[in-house]
Amino acid sequence: MLRSSAALATAIGLLTAGSQGPVALAQSTSGSDAIVVDGTAFALHGAGMSYVFHADTTTGDLITDHYGASVSGALPSPGESGVSGWVGTIGRVRREFPDQGRGDFRIPAVRIRQTAGYTVSDLRYQSHEVLDGKPSLPGLPATFGEAGDVTTLVVHLYDNYSAVAADLSYSVFPEFDAVVRSVNITNKGSGDITVEQLASLSVDFPLEDLDLLSLRGDWAREAHRERRRVDYGVQGFGSSTGYSSHLHNPFFALAHPSTTESQGEAWGFNLIYTGSFSAQVEKSSQGLTRALIGFNPDQLSWTLGPGETLTSPECVSVYSNEGIGGMSRKLHRLYRKHLIRSKFATSDRPPLLNSWEGVYFNYNQTSIERLARQSAALGIRLFVMDDGWFGDKYPRTSDNAGLGDWTPNPDRFPDGLGPVVERITNMDVNGTAGEKLRFGIWVEPEMVNPNSSLYRKHPDWVLHAGSYPRTERRNQLVLNLALPEVQDFIIDFMTNLLNSADISYVKWDNNRGMHEVPSPRTYHEYMLGLYHVLDTLSSRFPNVLFEGCASGGGRFDAGILHYFPQFWTSDNTDGVDRITIQFGTSLAYPPSAMGAHLSAVPNHQTGRTVPLEFRAHVAMMGGSFGLELDPATLQDNPEVRELIKLAEKVNPIVLTGDLYRLRLPEESQWPAALFVAEDGSQAVLFYFQVGPNVNHAVPWVRLQGLDPEARYSVDGNATYTGATLMNMGLQFTFDSEYGSKVVFLERQ
Ligand code: DGJ
Repeated sequence: MLRSSAALATAIGLLTAGSQGPVALAQSTSGSDAIVVDGTAFALHGAGMSYVFHADTTTGDLITDHYGASVSGALPSPGESGVSGWVGTIGRVRREFPDQGRGDFRIPAVRIRQTAGYTVSDLRYQSHEVLDGKPSLPGLPATFGEAGDVTTLVVHLYDNYSAVAADLSYSVFPEFDAVVRSVNITNKGSGDITVEQLASLSVDFPLEDLDLLSLRGDWAREAHRERRRVDYGVQGFGSSTGYSSHLHNPFFALAHPSTTESQGEAWGFNLIYTGSFSAQVEKSSQGLTRALIGFNPDQLSWTLGPGETLTSPECVSVYSNEGIGGMSRKLHRLYRKHLIRSKFATSDRPPLLNSWEGVYFNYNQTSIERLARQSAALGIRLFVMDDGWFGDKYPRTSDNAGLGDWTPNPDRFPDGLGPVVERITNMDVNGTAGEKLRFGIWVEPEMVNPNSSLYRKHPDWVLHAGSYPRTERRNQLVLNLALPEVQDFIIDFMTNLLNSADISYVKWDNNRGMHEVPSPRTYHEYMLGLYHVLDTLSSRFPNVLFEGCASGGGRFDAGILHYFPQFWTSDNTDGVDRITIQFGTSLAYPPSAMGAHLSAVPNHQTGRTVPLEFRAHVAMMGGSFGLELDPATLQDNPEVRELIKLAEKVNPIVLTGDLYRLRLPEESQWPAALFVAEDGSQAVLFYFQVGPNVNHAVPWVRLQGLDPEARYSVDGNATYTGATLMNMGLQFTFDSEYGSKVVFLERQ
């Protein structure tokens, strides 16, 4: 429903104000009055956040007034400062959507090559509308919500010289202090134009010291937290791999240098996109800081014919004055409720056993059934057959062949998958009242080995650039999902596979980046094709639990999470390394979305040996707990059954609770995390010691997020007040390194 901005302003009793002077605002916290409009001044309010901007009446430019903690009433005008030198006013103000040319020498949010070849734009305020709820984004993953959850402001800008329109969309989720932004660029002229740069979000901060936090890594080393001071000039990162990638996650935060995990201001920005991206932060010569995130301009050249529109992916921004932890919790809550659309978002994640590290490619029907039986005997509820089950003419017995040929390997499964899956799904799960084991399967649909019938038949279906050699990684090539015939192929084979047997889980892998592509346009077209495929399959099979994977966490992004509720966090299953990787990933993404498995020792990636209990406790911090080893090695081990039961007990709190990173692995050898149920009735503490501690005191761990007045039982024993647990804390000691504890708190 479109609401008139004038009527709204009257209804809430706004003071009138010119759009260039101080702006008068009503502060509000509910969905219906989260957006306040006064003429061409706009205020977006959350429970503890205000984002205020206006259209300058002379230039038509959108100017930011404030983005941070709540403000109300009249806002002070900025001080008058003389403008001289090469940089004019436009280069010294806080702009909402900086276009290219005309004297703002900072990074633009948009660069458009006009029909005549110019790359100058003059996008001015034209009109606006306020919508209850939030429209979906055509072909792209997006946050969602009803009127009451979210309200949307769309500001229409127009460039009279080039006949280009830009529609800026701001959706406010007040409960989470979140503003979700995206941009539409439309060609209203008669010739072609080309979009060469488009940020989903651009925001200018006033002169103040800021730190930039981001997540960097590589294969088996994902999500390492990086914190650096924003300095004069441009600092940035991104991905040009074609996917969001392990190298840098499409997330960053800005925070004051004094901001800690639990105190101070932090602004978090997360792109809902799985493709290449660019994130840049520029402190200008005058000291203002501009932050942008969106398409990677090196891989964008998007021509728009008359009447055509390019929609940017969405970017979520949240504000917190409860430190970096507060920022993460707001993102987590928003994602659990308004991004992840799967029915499994916050429930029903059975403990699983994945075959990969246990047997790799070396299995057949008999050994798969043995693994499943032994998994069920341990109390595992879902058995997952990883890579190696398919390929007839080119059997997948190593990573050298078979991708693309999604028929069961006849040597391994002479009667196909149906009978095996039937036998497995008839196995009783030990310790349950007759519950049957579930079955899951691995696929890598976007890829093909040259050694495959598919490639022999359709060599043109892969990404390639004319006659340039087609570079292989892991002996494979990337199918071009921009092609409708490739999308249909994947949808059809997945539909047939999922209809062929009782398959209740799919691990969707993707194990290389893009090299030779036919044109820059392909990068985004591929993503639109991928999202079409994921949308179709996840809608068609709502009862299948999908887990994303990309050589571990290579596509752990908010785009994939819209369709799949969980993602394999890393191929590094070492208990100690995993604490860093999982804590890092939790900066942006909810623990509910993390796949985390207990694997064998010495660990296959690091060679390190840590106790079973420690490995299990680390894996329990992920929403999808599992084992990834040969279950034969654990059959006589009663401890593992108890650990699986414990994982099931903590799982509901991990899936739905608020995470407090009490101590970071980068800063302490006693990392700790607390999950507090949303209603505060329960909490679970994870506490680790990762090194030896000889003849030295150990710290107390102070809890957070509890009710100071309430009393909590600790592991069913002693009872303490929340105030005591938060202000004094608990202390644990261990005899040696790699000690760990999982502690239950229950409000009395
Ligand atoms: C990479 C994944 O990250 C692993 O977990 C495993 O599924 C292999 N691919 C299988 O090839």
